[in-house]
Amino acid sequence: MSPYKRTAVFWDQVFQDIDTDFDHRESLSIKEIEEGLDWLVDDGCSMIDYGCGDGKLLLRCIAKGSKVGVGIDISPEGIKRAKELAKTNDVKDQIDLIEGGLETLSAFDEDEFDSGILSNIVDNLLPQDSIALLEEFNRVIKPGGKIFLKLNDHVDPSQLEEWEAKKVRDDLYKEESGLFFWNLKDEKVLDLLEKHFKIEKRVDVEFKEESQINRLYYLRNR
Ligand SMILES: C[S@@+](CC[C@H](N)C(=O)[O-])C[C@H]1O[C@@H](n2cnc3c(N)ncnc32)[C@H](O)[C@@H]1O
Repeated sequence: MSPYKRTAVFWDQVFQDIDTDFDHRESLSIKEIEEGLDWLVDDGCSMIDYGCGDGKLLLRCIAKGSKVGVGIDISPEGIKRAKELAKTNDVKDQIDLIEGGLETLSAFDEDEFDSGILSNIVDNLLPQDSIALLEEFNRVIKPGGKIFLKLNDHVDPSQLEEWEAKKVRDDLYKEESGLFFWNLKDEKVLDLLEKHFKIEKRVDVEFKEESQINRLYYLRNR
């Protein structure tokens, strides 16, 4: 059985419950994310977004000038919603949306894309899968291509205990919801990225309502 079965069920529920409109020409509410996408998108570029969810970041990139995009997600409801949003925003010919996991990446050629998005996915996989995902992004994105990587902040282990997250091993946890959380310290992130990417910039993104910080990395493919 896939270790991500409960993950898919969790996200299916989330995407089933969202039915707000989305206009991809309108600015996203979080300034740091908008600025990151401005940096990411070059006119006419091709993009890949792994763990795209309902595809809003990819759609926003199309509005910013990206020509084509591929979005992949394990949640059938996420992909269904992304397809609906691509249709209502009249960009369905520019976006290919695929339901599935890491195995879907083998269909793409080396250097096939100019840039990529990994937003809140790398630290929610099993570590061996996160490493494989970074390797695949390094392969399918051109050398010098840009990657928008967003991660959760490192969480104090005592806080995770309070949230009743179960420690699987080392810094890998399974939350009550069934989601994996790889609780990465900054040094470990640098370690993970070093082999395939150069870090151009690191920004903290504040989610005030949730009292949370995300770490946003602007990466260049090696
Ligand atoms: C936190 S959401 C992020 C969605 C989107 N990237 C964003 O930033 O708005 C995580 C997404 O990753 C997807 N996901 C989780 N595990 C996955 C896996 N093993 N393979 C593909 N997608 C996965 C979930 O279904 C969900 O849509």
